[in-house]
Amino acid sequence: MQGQLERKGMWAIITGASSGIGESMARELARDGVNLVLVARRLDRLQTLGAELKEKHQIESLAIDADLSLPNETKRVFERATANGRMIQVLINNAGIGTYGPFMHYELEQYSKTIQLNVTALTELTYYLVGHMQAHGKKSYISNVGSIASFLSVPYFSVYGATKHFVRDFTQTLNFELRKSNISVSLIAPGGTYSEFTEHSGQVLRKSAHGSMMTSELVAQIGMDRMFKGHRSIVPGFLNSLMVHFPRFLPVKWMLACNDLVMRMAVDYKK
Ligand SMILES: NC(=O)c1ccc[n+]([C@@H]2O[C@H](COP(=O)([O-])OP(=O)(O)OC[C@H]3O[C@@H](n4cnc5c(N)ncnc54)[C@H](OP(=O)(O)O)[C@@H]3O)[C@@H](O)[C@H]2O)c1
Repeated sequence: MQGQLERKGMWAIITGASSGIGESMARELARDGVNLVLVARRLDRLQTLGAELKEKHQIESLAIDADLSLPNETKRVFERATANGRMIQVLINNAGIGTYGPFMHYELEQYSKTIQLNVTALTELTYYLVGHMQAHGKKSYISNVGSIASFLSVPYFSVYGATKHFVRDFTQTLNFELRKSNISVSLIAPGGTYSEFTEHSGQVLRKSAHGSMMTSELVAQIGMDRMFKGHRSIVPGFLNSLMVHFPRFLPVKWMLACNDLVMRMAVDYKK
């Protein structure tokens, strides 16, 4: 309760707030009275969500349409978000894309966009916001959304998985560097979660996949709760926690074969 009171009136930026985990995080924060800067390409969805949350929870919101896979968009987002002296205390780098399937199955451009969004935009926004948070000096939080693929090497998710390894490494080192500052940095690493990601990443779920899938609401609830508690690494779901630790004990070749088998049992890729 005390934590909720402290959060009321804060401003948060959430990228990828137009669907899935990002939208659920926006709902979760709004419930605590946190004002929202919502970022994604689909402006209509951001505006509808902002209006709904404003009405329900008496918060303020700002919708910014931005394609973060394009260069220079992060600077524009940062400048709009912090215009008129708006003080941001929460940054959630959630927007992310990926493709599942053999490496040559997708166009090169798709991989370039994936790296730009998942790695470059996330790094740039973090850079701008760490400077901003250090300057205002208030207690602040940054969460970077990785994946259980941040811990595992998953065949047929080669580029996506590599970007999520970057997110994990970057986040945990930044957490250490900033440990004595006003900024708490967390990694949120979900496993399979029901969202538009399945369709957009070219995955076709098999029946067996549903046993381990989580809802975006639950991922957001666990993620936001532990972010405010200052956890460094957040893996929502017991099964996901097991999955990120178990393969570490295997030789790399076996680990890859094991991850490949587990994925193939759960999903196919769109041909
Ligand atoms: N779902 C899973 O199984 C799963 C598992 C592990 C990790 N994750 C991670 O969770 C995060 C959220 O994914 P999700 O599952 O919620 O998927 P989602 O429903 O597809 O949401 C992705 C969000 O990112 C935004 N986005 C995509 N491309 C963008 C771009 N170029 N510029 C700005 N925004 C962009 C989308 O909005 P617009 O299309 O409106 O731009 C959308 O709001 C991602 O980082 C993903 O890697 C997901």
